[in-house]
Amino acid sequence: MDKQFAEDVRKGLSAEPKYLHSKYFYNENGDRLFQKIMELDEYYLTNSEYDIFENQKSELLEYFSPDGRRFDLIELGAGDGYKTIVLISYFLQKQAEFTYIPVDISRNVLKKLSNTLTGNFPSLEIHPVNDEYFHALEELNKVDFDRKVILFLGSNIGNFREDQAILFLSHLAADMTHDDRLLIGFDLKKDPDIILNAYNDREGVTRDFNLNLLTRINEELDGDFDLTLFKHYPTYNPQTGETVSYLVSMKDQHVRIGALDEIFHFNEWEPVFMEVSQKYSLPDIERLAVNSGFSIEMNFFDKREFFTDSLWVLK
Ligand code: AVJ
Repeated sequence: MDKQFAEDVRKGLSAEPKYLHSKYFYNENGDRLFQKIMELDEYYLTNSEYDIFENQKSELLEYFSPDGRRFDLIELGAGDGYKTIVLISYFLQKQAEFTYIPVDISRNVLKKLSNTLTGNFPSLEIHPVNDEYFHALEELNKVDFDRKVILFLGSNIGNFREDQAILFLSHLAADMTHDDRLLIGFDLKKDPDIILNAYNDREGVTRDFNLNLLTRINEELDGDFDLTLFKHYPTYNPQTGETVSYLVSMKDQHVRIGALDEIFHFNEWEPVFMEVSQKYSLPDIERLAVNSGFSIEMNFFDKREFFTDSLWVLK
């Protein structure tokens, strides 16, 4: 992991244009900052999906297992489980038979989630997996599964570009049978100001979240980034639906990264691409489903129709 981190940073900062991988946002401090983001007024995504779960949990259970057969509830990128706990609590109350398998890249957040869940729901069967999505899926495929219900929530899919998203979803499809279900969260195209504000909050938490990756490089790879010399600059393109965040170098400067034994040059106002958070229309979602081998069984919406959890089955 550390070697991979170093190598990815070297690649990204040597590239033209420069980029860093948003998957590296999530160290301990990054987890804490993302937690704070989810509590922001501007960051409507979490509340919207919470609203869907709170108001449509019985429909969701109905769709997950129409015949009441036991299922494995696999959550990719489970995070702190704040939203999923609503479902888990309801499913247990309805005495649905299932095992919860949260997968997350962050060991730290996964441990917290397991502790919360085992504390609150002693009868819950839970098998946490600390890995990246792809690796985790390979591992999980070695196990003999009951019906699989895969959760990929929070518009995490938005961190993939379209071709990568199709690749990823096709991999998922290859591991599924016609009995299985995929519930996937999409942030919808809406008033561009509402979207941009979600990535440009007044308190500057999202700025710190992005800058934290530079801090992580300083700490783990012996870098000497001066955080005051980089400006957080989020953008939204209403045509493509791409929300992209950059860190822009405010002056001509050199940054040395000890672990790489390399010095990187930044021109004045040179941007580093940090993250894409794709926004979708319903036809965008339909196209993505069809191109990855799925059909949409149902779309669940929050009251404001800001977000959808889309239930997919194999085509
Ligand atoms: C966790 C990937 C869904 O893209 O909205 C939040 C991450 N980045 N604010 C998103 C994020 C900046 C978030 N996802």
